[in-house]
Amino acid sequence: AAPLRLGIAGLGTVGAGVVRIVRTHAAMLSARTGREITITAVSARNRDKDRGVSLTGYEWEDDPVALARRDDIDVFVELMGGSDGPALAATRAALDTGKDVVTANKAMLAIHGQTLAEEAEAKGRAIRFEAAVAGGIPVIKALTEGLAGNQVTRVMGVMNGTCNYILTRMESAGLGYDTVFQEASDLGYLEADPTLDVGGIDAGHKLALLSSIAFGTQPDFAGIDIEGIERIKIDDIRQAADMGYRIKLLGVARRTGRGLEQRMQPCLVPADSPLGQLEGGTNMVVIEGDAVEQIVLRGPGAGQGPTASAVMGDVCDLARGFRLPTFGQPATTLEQVPPATSGLP
Ligand code: NAP
Ligand code: HSE
Repeated sequence: AAPLRLGIAGLGTVGAGVVRIVRTHAAMLSARTGREITITAVSARNRDKDRGVSLTGYEWEDDPVALARRDDIDVFVELMGGSDGPALAATRAALDTGKDVVTANKAMLAIHGQTLAEEAEAKGRAIRFEAAVAGGIPVIKALTEGLAGNQVTRVMGVMNGTCNYILTRMESAGLGYDTVFQEASDLGYLEADPTLDVGGIDAGHKLALLSSIAFGTQPDFAGIDIEGIERIKIDDIRQAADMGYRIKLLGVARRTGRGLEQRMQPCLVPADSPLGQLEGGTNMVVIEGDAVEQIVLRGPGAGQGPTASAVMGDVCDLARGFRLPTFGQPATTLEQVPPATSGLP
């Protein structure tokens, strides 16, 4: 088969990780997918920056939209970030010119995912985004493939590693929110706009995508009740611990008699439950379905290797010709999601 040719826009933490995997594991990827996976061209803002990986053999494009439009790429890999601007323009250009797209950009998809999915479907292309939800955990794949025989009743989880780091560090070190927030900032954990993390917005973006896949709805970020962790005090954490609970920024999407309910807020969870035992920057997603009952997925929600791992899972699927529809039943709104049906033992 002909090689699958990638154009990668964004060579930061995740983009450099993707280049590293393609270079390091070329033979393995080819054996697994039956096709060589190559990089034709790349784009970032600063051409001279050392990114810790070799870019030899790749053409350079200053403009990510020009990269997306090239006729010598098959897949446009969007790893720039930002809900609008160049990421959105380049993704649209890629779909418009008949490319498949792989992205880690939860902010863009939570807002524009529905229209982008429609644009992709109109062109017979795919937009894949495993890396956008819970980093290295292959949760989109679990829902769309392994759990396809289930009516999902509830999905929930801890999907922002920074918030979980702050909450668990406050508890273990007995430190106040402001001190640990500063620590997280010094360690480089926070997004450029920290409100995205501590305000629950980044986790809300992820929940919107996760529930759209789990329940076949359009992503509805605006419909999520969101509360962040900024007002959690060390005394709240101590009181919870005294009662056998821990505080987690928990996202929950579940069927009700009035459609789908989505919430992202600090919650008390039993300290001895899987969610209660989650430490540091780790993510956890719990999926409940009528046949499988409950499964728990746990793993790194961020970082170069884990996020690039998820991007490459999507790239390999495209190399094999797998092009699932992006969001199940695009026309379904949250209100139209029926309550759980009974029938299974
Ligand atoms: P990053 O380290 O800030 O890298 C962003 C890259 O995009 C940089 O290489 C930057 O170029 C490039 N870029 C920005 N604006 C551009 C423009 N106008 N034209 C061309 N290139 C441009 O970001 P990241 O952490 O890799 O994240 C990338 C995406 O993955 C985001 O959507 C993020 O939300 C998502 N994600 C990240 C993680 C994670 O752990 N980092 C986890 C899950 C999802 P320069 O390098 O030249 O400045
Ligand atoms: N800021 C995000 C987090 C990065 O802390 O989980 C990964 O999406």
